[in-house]
Amino acid sequence: MTANLFEDIDAPEPAREPLAPGAVLLRGFACEVAGEILEAVNGVLAQAPLRHLVTPGGYTMSVAMSNCGPLGWVSDRRGYRYDALDPLSGQPWPAMPERWKALAARAAAQAGFEGFEPDACLINQYLPGSKLSLHQDRDEHDFSAPIVSVSLGLPAVFLFGSERRTDRPQRYCLQHGDVVVWGGASRLAFHGVAPLADGEHSLLGQRRINLTFRRAG
Ligand code: SIN
Ligand code: FE2
Repeated sequence: MTANLFEDIDAPEPAREPLAPGAVLLRGFACEVAGEILEAVNGVLAQAPLRHLVTPGGYTMSVAMSNCGPLGWVSDRRGYRYDALDPLSGQPWPAMPERWKALAARAAAQAGFEGFEPDACLINQYLPGSKLSLHQDRDEHDFSAPIVSVSLGLPAVFLFGSERRTDRPQRYCLQHGDVVVWGGASRLAFHGVAPLADGEHSLLGQRRINLTFRRAG
């Protein structure tokens, strides 16, 4: 009987690194399913290819993007927004794989956000030198749902600050399989990615792929 009592204590806890109130880094959370996710990424990208979006200010982003799910994040000279149609094809974005939704919901729950149901998954591809400037994710309808970010491939330096752009962000190295969840008091935290360093990853070569799951609509 005593053995049972201690079983839960001995079970390996997923490594959780709190970043800020409402924000947590789940080290290696997606490692086991990473290969399977990447196969599905290729399927999605065959239907909705990666492209470099232009910001409202006329700057072409160095990160290449696509989406899956009912809504996709897009940017052009008119602004940032979510759209049900891929502007390249005029067709709906590819479906979000059920297994991805389940993974995102499990990660959100680990971080204290039960019942997360993403309706948008942004796919970001970074090559050496690609970066993402500090920004807030604020094009979503309501901010009660968290953002769930899955890192695959080459490691990246993730910048995570506060709601104030002027606060100096902390730097975290995100590795293949790491998942970051931010919501609640951190939902509007400024974040970004430092220029990707050269490297070679066994599954992705010279690339980093990041999936961010959002409740946009
Ligand atoms: C994002 O902010 O949309 C992506 C963050 C990342 O690539 O880690
Ligand atoms: Fe973001």
